[in-house]
Amino acid sequence: MKRALVAVAACALLLAACGDGNGEEDPLAGLDANGDNGDNGEEPAGDVDPEDPDTVPDDAVEIFSWWTGAGEEAGLLALIDMFESEYGHEVVNSAVAGGAGTDAQAVLTSRMQAGQPPSSFQIHAGRALLDQWVAADAMEPLNDLYDEEGWWEVFPDELLEMTTDEDGNIYSVPVNVHRSNVLFTNTQVFEDNDLTPPTTFDEFFEVADALEAAGVTPLALGDNESWTLLHTWETVLLGTVGPETYQALFDGEADWQSPEVVESFENLERMFGYINDDHSARNWQDAAQLVAEGEAAMNIMGDWAQGYFSTDLEMEPETDFGWEPTPGTDGSFITVVDTFGLPEDAPNREGTLDWLRVLGSVEGQDTFNPLKGSIPARLDGNIAEYNEYGQDTYNDFQDDSLVPSLAHNSAAPPNFTDAAMSAVVEWMAQRDAERSAEQLEQAADDFLR
Ligand code: GAL
Repeated sequence: MKRALVAVAACALLLAACGDGNGEEDPLAGLDANGDNGDNGEEPAGDVDPEDPDTVPDDAVEIFSWWTGAGEEAGLLALIDMFESEYGHEVVNSAVAGGAGTDAQAVLTSRMQAGQPPSSFQIHAGRALLDQWVAADAMEPLNDLYDEEGWWEVFPDELLEMTTDEDGNIYSVPVNVHRSNVLFTNTQVFEDNDLTPPTTFDEFFEVADALEAAGVTPLALGDNESWTLLHTWETVLLGTVGPETYQALFDGEADWQSPEVVESFENLERMFGYINDDHSARNWQDAAQLVAEGEAAMNIMGDWAQGYFSTDLEMEPETDFGWEPTPGTDGSFITVVDTFGLPEDAPNREGTLDWLRVLGSVEGQDTFNPLKGSIPARLDGNIAEYNEYGQDTYNDFQDDSLVPSLAHNSAAPPNFTDAAMSAVVEWMAQRDAERSAEQLEQAADDFLR
């Protein structure tokens, strides 16, 4: 019966992506007033409640994530499908809506504290995994699985380091690499206005002035969920200070009150002079949708927005949408790596190990990532089969300086991330760059040094 739940969700998604099935629908037409396909924000269908583990059948593999709705769900459902048909386990898709997992992580924390973990949960590689769940002895090491599957050689060292503790135990399986510092553009709007997408802050401001004069909103923002503010600022910080200082800041080795950090807030303020008026009513999909429709020219988002454009809205890379590293970040790549692990006392441990086998396989990764907008975490993914965006990003991932994301819980321990989120939210209201820098310096003293 539970398997039917997943099927229902898959159909809902297909309908949203394919219109009425005649193949000629405009995918944008199916979106509701919030710019999503209507299923974003809903709990999974049926009678399973991720907040209440008693609703999950004992023998199921319960997969916990925040991948619901447009740009998020299609890849997960394809993986679940593959897992069910390869291994025949019963799956419960416990997904809690909300971009970047803010709400999902709150539900997960209370379940973990109550000793009721799901079989496997989505967790970012880096500090979130290591400082929160590994430090609390809540996860089983996966070294044996890595040995059996020959995985030590197939993932880049950077990703192995982000999932391994100081004793050499590895705790999760990376399913993808997302890039956070992407400036998405509407190709037609740029062509119509005879403009070239900007790569520096100066170019950004020039282009934004021209767009504004032409009556187009230069930059789409959706900060209805405030993680998008932290997300946008981290890209501007990187563009302002460069990758070495960015990393040194999170290592507690650089000064958060330096003129460059203050300047990052000043750059952000200038950029936010060009955003849509209704930004606080929109989530990330709704903001990206403004670019899809040509109402806005640019959007700064992670490349799950590429999944939204390509998979959900059926837009063509280059023809319909373009991409650049966010201003000042050419040659740097902020990584956001989604992983899944095995909690101690996971329900259906054997089934969960099979789930992890699917996630870590070439086939699993090459099924998931083209839909999700990310590139495979494995080095031997079949990248020739990805679209132009995926191939371009894969090349950058090989060549660029890789740095972790703060907004997506990899760069800093959770208490610093929380403090930075408060500082940026306060900055949005007060626009006091000096004060924000001072708050960050205080948080660095408290949590990074
Ligand atoms: C990130 C996650 C991505 C995507 C995004 C928006 O934290 O790593 O896979 O889901 O949030 O929700």
